Amino acid sequence: MKFDKEKIKKILSGVIDSDNVININHLGGEIIIDINSTNPTLKHKKELENRILDNLKKSYSEEHNYKLNINVVKPTIPQNANRLDNIKNIIAISSAKGGVGKSTLTANIACSLKKMGFKVGVLDADIYGPSMHIMFDLVGSKPMAVNVDGKSKMSPIESYGIKILSIGFFTNMDQAVVWRGPMASKALNQLIFDADWGELDFLLVDLPPGTGDIHLSIMQKISINGALIISTPQIVALADARKGVSMYKQENINIPVLGIVENMAYYQIPNDDTKHYIFGKDGAKNLAEDFKIPFLGEIPIIQQIRESADVGRPLSIDEDSATAFIYDEITKKMITFLLERNKNLPPTEILKIKTMAGCQ
Ligand SMILES: Nc1ncnc2c1ncn2[C@@H]1O[C@H](COP(=O)(O)OP(=O)(O)O)[C@@H](O)[C@H]1O
Ligand SMILES: [Mg+2]
Repeated sequence: MKFDKEKIKKILSGVIDSDNVININHLGGEIIIDINSTNPTLKHKKELENRILDNLKKSYSEEHNYKLNINVVKPTIPQNANRLDNIKNIIAISSAKGGVGKSTLTANIACSLKKMGFKVGVLDADIYGPSMHIMFDLVGSKPMAVNVDGKSKMSPIESYGIKILSIGFFTNMDQAVVWRGPMASKALNQLIFDADWGELDFLLVDLPPGTGDIHLSIMQKISINGALIISTPQIVALADARKGVSMYKQENINIPVLGIVENMAYYQIPNDDTKHYIFGKDGAKNLAEDFKIPFLGEIPIIQQIRESADVGRPLSIDEDSATAFIYDEITKKMITFLLERNKNLPPTEILKIKTMAGCQ
């Protein structure tokens, strides 16, 4: 079989950003591929290697020997990192697991902040499971393009006075978003930098669950003032929440965790005072104590929370409900710890992944 460099290039572009494919050579019966990667972990390297080899064997040829050289390089920090200067505070909201109420918390904190008079934006960075377009009643809406200093930018869509951008505006509801890492990261880049956010006191970023590439990608691009972690109380959720806290605490990430919120903490039958701790009691509170991180409060399982999320009107936009009060209190505590953090610590550095010795 004749060596077909273009075909190999094409196959690789399905796995890794083409800019990172440095060289493809055919030498002594071996196909040698040089690749750059910005992720220094051995796990990532191994996964990348396996994915590339699988693809080449399947789509190019089984019989060749392949040699992969993966070099770890410094990520290029976009020049435009400071374009978010007119956003005063960026808060990441994260959970280790999906379905624990991260987006619901994001939407409700956004509304509590808005009620307090702040200018608020929400970036739905949950590329694989966006929901802000649903929770803010914006299904089917499309952001308009605006001209800012001669450049075309996306204008976030306002709902209840909050500026929203979500990948959900660009995908069909029934369509699974199957994106490989670099594409997802590019889409996010556009939502962050090609958007006309204007002046904001708070930008809340609803992250995907877990501790993956999207998290690293965001931390490489914007300076996050602090993170909130939400968990449900059961052991399996908490085990993962620990990983989340550890990620933020890592030396080269070092993003202050402003607090932990316990969601679905208990259930009360209407007109009955007994609290039923369906998923266990105080799990997230204990986690907060273990890590010496502020505990911001517990949110019970309340049907109205689910309903208001589904109809696209976050419950805390309205002033006078006991449940809105829970979110308002959590938001106030978050602000307290944020102010403390802003007073005592320098701005968070954009994540610079360390290069391995000898590699550039
Ligand atoms: N405290 C709560 N009580 C009742 N339902 C809740 C509560 N928190 C979240 N939910 C519901 O649980 C589901 C998952 O919440 P969501 O915020 O989408 O989770 P995540 O973003 O972590 O995947 C949604 O249907 C939401 O309305
Ligand atoms: Mg979500």
